Amino acid sequence: MMPEQWLGGSMVFLLLVMFFNASGAFVGINIGTAVTDLPSAADVVAMLKANQITHVRLYDADGHMLNALAGTGVEVMVGVTNEEVLGIGESPSAAAAWVNKNVASYLPETNITAIAVGSEVLTSIPNAAPVLVRAMNYLHHALLASNLNFQVKVSSPQSMDMIPRPFPPSTATFNSTWNSTMYQFLQFLKNTGSFYMLNAYPYYGYTRGNGIFPIDYALFRPLSLTKQIVDPNTLFQYPSMFESMVDATYYSMGALNFSGIPIIVTESGWPWFGGANEPDATADNAQTYNNNLIRRVLNDLGPPSQPTIPIRTYVYELFNEDKRPGSISEKNWGLFFTNGTSVYPLSFGTSDRVVGNSSGVGVFCVAKPDADSSLLQSGLNWACGEGQANCSAIQEGQPCYEPNNLQSHASYAYNDYFHKMQSAGATCDFGRTAITTTVDPSHSSCVFMGSSGSNTSGLFTPPSAFGPTGLMGSSSMLQVPRIVFLIPAILAIIGF
Ligand SMILES: *[C@@H]1O[C@H](CO)[C@@H](O)[C@H](O)[C@H]1NC(C)=O
Ligand SMILES: *[C@@H]1O[C@H](CO)[C@@H](O)[C@H](O)[C@H]1NC(C)=O
Ligand SMILES: *[C@@H]1O[C@H](CO)[C@@H](O)[C@H](O)[C@H]1NC(C)=O
Ligand SMILES: *[C@@H]1O[C@H](CO)[C@@H](O)[C@H](O)[C@H]1NC(C)=O
Ligand SMILES: *[C@@H]1O[C@H](CO)[C@@H](O)[C@H](O)[C@H]1NC(C)=O
Ligand SMILES: *[C@@H]1O[C@H](CO)[C@@H](O)[C@H](O)[C@H]1NC(C)=O
Ligand SMILES: *[C@@H]1O[C@H](CO)[C@@H](O)[C@H](O)[C@H]1NC(C)=O
Ligand SMILES: *[C@@H]1O[C@H](CO)[C@@H](O)[C@H](O)[C@H]1NC(C)=O
Repeated sequence: MMPEQWLGGSMVFLLLVMFFNASGAFVGINIGTAVTDLPSAADVVAMLKANQITHVRLYDADGHMLNALAGTGVEVMVGVTNEEVLGIGESPSAAAAWVNKNVASYLPETNITAIAVGSEVLTSIPNAAPVLVRAMNYLHHALLASNLNFQVKVSSPQSMDMIPRPFPPSTATFNSTWNSTMYQFLQFLKNTGSFYMLNAYPYYGYTRGNGIFPIDYALFRPLSLTKQIVDPNTLFQYPSMFESMVDATYYSMGALNFSGIPIIVTESGWPWFGGANEPDATADNAQTYNNNLIRRVLNDLGPPSQPTIPIRTYVYELFNEDKRPGSISEKNWGLFFTNGTSVYPLSFGTSDRVVGNSSGVGVFCVAKPDADSSLLQSGLNWACGEGQANCSAIQEGQPCYEPNNLQSHASYAYNDYFHKMQSAGATCDFGRTAITTTVDPSHSSCVFMGSSGSNTSGLFTPPSAFGPTGLMGSSSMLQVPRIVFLIPAILAIIGF
C-alpha cells in the first residue's frame, strides 16, 4: 500500500468540515461516547481541529473533553444527563454545584455556550416532566449568580414525538398532554433568551411513514413534479422533510402563542448500516442525507415560515456508538471511525459554499402561489424598474416568457433582483408576495439565477443532489396545478 493512501484515506475528502458563517448558520457535531476504543480526549479534539469542526455537543460534562477543548475556540454544549435531571430539579444547591463543577470551572478557556438539560425527557422519562423546567430554572439561577447567564443558555432537547401530527406544519401542535409543561418550558426559553432544542430525524419520519413520503423528500433530493409537498394552508412548498419538521415545531410553539424563540437542531443524521429489517440504513443514503443536510443548513435560510432564522444544526454523530443498546442501525450513525477516517466521503468544502455575488446558489426567491395579483404586478414592475432586475428573459420571444403569467414573470424578476442585491442586504419580500425556496424553478432554457445550471453561478459546482435533474426539460413548474397536495387526513392517520 502506498504511504499516501495510508495517510490519506478519506481524511483527505474531509477537508473543511463545519464552520461558522457570517450570518450565524453552523453545522456542529454530537459526540456520543458509548464507543469501544474511544480515542483519548486529546485525539478527539485533534480530529475536530483537523476537520475544522467549530461546534460540539457533549452528552455529559466530561472533564477530559472539557479540558482538551480549552483554548480551541470550539463552542461547546454540555449535557445534564437524564439521570441527573431529577436531583437538580429537587435542589437549587445541586444545580449550583453542577454549574460550578461542570461549567464555571472551565470558562472562559473552554467556550461553553449552552447546557442541554436531559435528552428528550418528556417522551423518554415522562415521570421527570414535573421537575424539568424547575431544573432548568435552578441551573439558570446558578448561572445568573456566577454572572454567566449571557454566556451560557439553558434548554432541553425535545423529540419530534412531542408533535403527534407534524404534517401539514401549519396545523401542528404539541401533544396536549404536555400543554402546561410546554407552556412553562417556552416561557422559560423566552424569558432567558434561550432557544428550542429539537431532535429532528427524517430517517424515522420516513421509515415510520410506510411509504407515504418519497425517500427523496427525506434525503433532500429534488422531488418529481407530481410529488411536490405543499402545506395546503400556507401553500408553502417543503423541499425536505427536515424543513417541514422544523416548521412544525415553530407552528406548535405558535399554537401556544409563543413566537421569537429560535430553534436549534440538536440532533439530525442518518444511520449508514442496519439489520436486514432496516433496508434504508445504507452508506449511500447516509452520505446523501448528511451532505445535503450540511449544504442546506449552511445556505443560511430558515424554514419557509421563518426564512430569516438559520437552522443551526448538530449532526448525529461523530463516532459509531457500538455499545448502544438497540437495533443494528442504532449503533451506526457515526461519520468517523475511531481511527479518524470518515465512514463515507463528505464534502464540507468551501467549494460548495456560496461566494461573492453569486450568493444564494441553490436558493430562489419566487412569487407566493397565493399572492394577490395586483400586489404581484406592482412587485414585478418595481423589480424590473427601480429594482433594476434584468427582465429581458421574460420578454416575448425570450426563454422565460412562457408560461406567460404573472406568477412566473414575477418569480423570474424577484429572483434576479434577490440574487444581485442580496449582498447589499436585499430580502425576498416584495410586499409579502415572495418566498424563498430551494426548489429550482428553472425550466428548459429558462435558467433562474442561483440555479446550478446557471452560468451566473460562478465558482459553484453543483452537487448532484441539488441539481436541476427532473426539473429541467419540463415546460414549467410554476404552474400551480402541477403541484399535488398530499392529503393531510391520510398523513394525520399515519403521522410521520
Ligand atoms: C465563545 O462563543 C461565543 C459565541 O459564538 C463567542 O461570541 C465568543 O467570542 C467565544 N469566546 C471565545 C473565548 O472564543
Ligand atoms: C400524547 O402523549 C401521551 C402521553 O405520552 C400519549 O399517551 C398519547 O398517546 C399522546 N397523544 C398522541 C395523539 O400521540
Ligand atoms: C393544548 O394547547 C392547544 C394549543 O396548542 C389547544 O388547542 C388545546 O386545546 C390545549 N389542550 C388542553 C388539554 O389544554
Ligand atoms: C393565544 O392567543 C389568542 C388570542 O389572544 C387566544 O384566543 C388563545 O386562547 C391563546 N391560546 C393559548 C393556547 O394560550
Ligand atoms: C480505519 O478504520 C476502519 C474501520 O475499522 C477501516 O476500514 C479503515 O481501513 C481504517 N483506516 C485506516 C487508515 O487505518
Ligand atoms: C459584487 O457586486 C458588486 C456591485 O455590483 C461589485 O462591485 C463587486 O465587485 C462584486 N463582487 C464580486 C466578487 O463579484
Ligand atoms: C440580461 O439577461 C440577458 C439574458 O437573459 C443577457 O443576454 C443580457 O446580457 C443581460 N443584460 C445585462 C445588462 O446583464
Ligand atoms: C452556459 O454557457 C455555455 C458556454 O458559455 C453555453 O454553452 C451554455 O448553453 C450555457 N448554459 C446555460 C444554461 O445558459
